[in-house]
Amino acid sequence: MKIAVLGAHGQIAMLLHSILISNGHEVAGLIRNPEHAEEVEKAGAQSVICDVESQEDIAEAVGRVDAVVFAAGAGPGSGAGRKWTVDRDGALKLIEAARKNDISRYVMISAMKVEEPRGNEVFQVYQKAKSEADKALRESGLDWTIIRPGRLTDNLPTGRVALGPDLEPGEIPRADVAAVVAEVLEMPETAGYQWDLTSGDTLVEAAIRQALS
Ligand SMILES: NC(=O)c1ccc[n+]([C@@H]2O[C@H](COP(=O)([O-])OP(=O)(O)OC[C@H]3O[C@@H](n4cnc5c(N)ncnc54)[C@H](OP(=O)(O)O)[C@@H]3O)[C@@H](O)[C@H]2O)c1
Repeated sequence: MKIAVLGAHGQIAMLLHSILISNGHEVAGLIRNPEHAEEVEKAGAQSVICDVESQEDIAEAVGRVDAVVFAAGAGPGSGAGRKWTVDRDGALKLIEAARKNDISRYVMISAMKVEEPRGNEVFQVYQKAKSEADKALRESGLDWTIIRPGRLTDNLPTGRVALGPDLEPGEIPRADVAAVVAEVLEMPETAGYQWDLTSGDTLVEAAIRQALS
């Protein structure tokens, strides 16, 4: 497959590229900052410049691929405005691009409990933005899978996760999130599922199969 990853210089995305490449796929890595091209290419992806906030239509940047992954995010240092323009509208623009380019498969990196806003005002906007993006994707008619990790860490991957529609809050290494996203892309039968994700006891593929059964 050829897979377009939006937010390709993000921490999860950078871990995802090498897994996808070793699984035999090609990756188009959509980045906003041309200075990140070299690192993204070192990770095995082809870099494509795409700033989802300044471009209204990102279909050309996404190109003719088999699947898209939303891995972008305004990030913890950003204000409320960019939660709407990246976390919500960026995801919506990727839905539009997928439709326009006849790409049916869309994997979303979302976050746990975004329908239960908590924390400060900016964090609540982030949760609303993610929630609205996820709802739009669920209603898009595309073959979507929504992965909702708990708090992300940079710990080494364990390869063992808990995955299901409604988990207790927890944390998970970014590398394990990348492994789950890569596995979901191998399993078209995961279309139509939204799962919370934390560290757990079950190997990634087995956890996905359990969640499907
Ligand atoms: N932090 C947590 O505990 C947590 C928990 C659950 C879910 N999540 C979600 O997981 C997502 C991925 O996590 P992560 O750690 O991999 O995030 P990250 O490292 O912050 O990566 C996000 C990427 O989005 C890119 N981006 C920002 N604005 C953009 C724009 N206008 N156009 C194109 N790309 C843009 C950033 O590009 P630049 O490199 O140019 O800034 C960055 O590379 C987060 O964004 C968040 O929504 C986070």
